[in-house]
Amino acid sequence: MCVANDKRYDSMQYRRSGRSGIQLPAVSLGLWHNFGGVDNFENSRAMLRRAFDLGITHFDLANNYGPPYGSAEETFGQILKKDFLPYRDELIISTKAGWDMWPGPYGDRGSRKYMLASLDQGLKRMGLEYVDIFYHHRPDPDTPMEESLGALDTAVRSGRALYAGISAYNAKQTAEAVKILRDLGTPCLIHQPKYSMFVRDPEQGLFDVLEKEGVGSIVFSPLAQGLLSDRYLNGIPSDSRAARNFFLKKKDIGEDKLTKIRALNEIAKQRGQTLAEMALAWVLRDPRVTSALVGTSKVSQVDDNVAALKNLKFSAEELRLIDGVLAGKKAA
Ligand SMILES: NC(=O)c1ccc[n+]([C@@H]2O[C@H](COP(=O)([O-])OP(=O)(O)OC[C@H]3O[C@@H](n4cnc5c(N)ncnc54)[C@H](OP(=O)(O)O)[C@@H]3O)[C@@H](O)[C@H]2O)c1
Repeated sequence: MCVANDKRYDSMQYRRSGRSGIQLPAVSLGLWHNFGGVDNFENSRAMLRRAFDLGITHFDLANNYGPPYGSAEETFGQILKKDFLPYRDELIISTKAGWDMWPGPYGDRGSRKYMLASLDQGLKRMGLEYVDIFYHHRPDPDTPMEESLGALDTAVRSGRALYAGISAYNAKQTAEAVKILRDLGTPCLIHQPKYSMFVRDPEQGLFDVLEKEGVGSIVFSPLAQGLLSDRYLNGIPSDSRAARNFFLKKKDIGEDKLTKIRALNEIAKQRGQTLAEMALAWVLRDPRVTSALVGTSKVSQVDDNVAALKNLKFSAEELRLIDGVLAGKKAA
């Protein structure tokens, strides 16, 4: 059993999720990559322990994280048993259902049958009685929203989850979902959208809806899967996500992207930060963002990402320069 650092709450910043009672760490850790059955268990364990020692109280999972599917929840369950059981009440653990999980018509999307079976499987894999947040992972255009969100409501009412969340719903769908959940009596705690310097869609309405409705946001892939770091400045390292050429493709790291990454890296240096640190500070500059949800492959990346919190302020000039780089203008 691990004995956690007794200074773990000294420097982490916690931000309130919308108008709810829950505060999340400004940096949260996701287990999409590097926690599967194919990955090194002791490395996964070391990253989780380091994260908790630094005040990261929130770990994000989904039914199909691995590979193989389900294995990130299994890995997490084993580490929970070895290290974190005494700390269960200090943790916010989330899981999701909405993507491909098991064969046949009931193992994907948004039916009540799929979502509740998925949650039950996840609880078993993690050895938990309940998760803190259960998400619908993506909207399902073929299932009435009332059914998918009704499954979240059932999950909460039956005690298998404490809060409900949605992910990848656009601004209009979010406004509708928030209303349905509120009418059901299970308010939406949080939305999980993709947001980074390279993907700014939530600025086009989603953040406005969330602010108006008092719903938090935890933004995923804030480092654009590692592009917004110094990882690819000198080619593609063999142990990187891009080297696996699946979720992050080698072809997505063209000269145009690299020119922007290099220019952003120079701005980060001027701020005394790594590019990853600046990328996280940048998403957190918006108070509507509750938490930056990162992935890591090494303990040193956990340290670096938390170090972002040492400098979250941007001058108007720095923001202008960053916008210029992102728009493809030459850095001044
Ligand atoms: N709701 C959804 O649909 C959805 C979708 C995707 C993700 N998510 C959630 O969001 C989490 C994060 O997603 P993500 O892994 O794509 O996030 P990300 O933080 O943008 O990318 C993580 C990758 O960036 C690299 N990295 C991290 N910290 C670094 C640092 N300090 N310096 C240099 N490189 C660094 C690592 O790449 P290497 O592995 O190459 O070292 C790491 O695997 C997931 O685990 C999951 O929980 C949700």
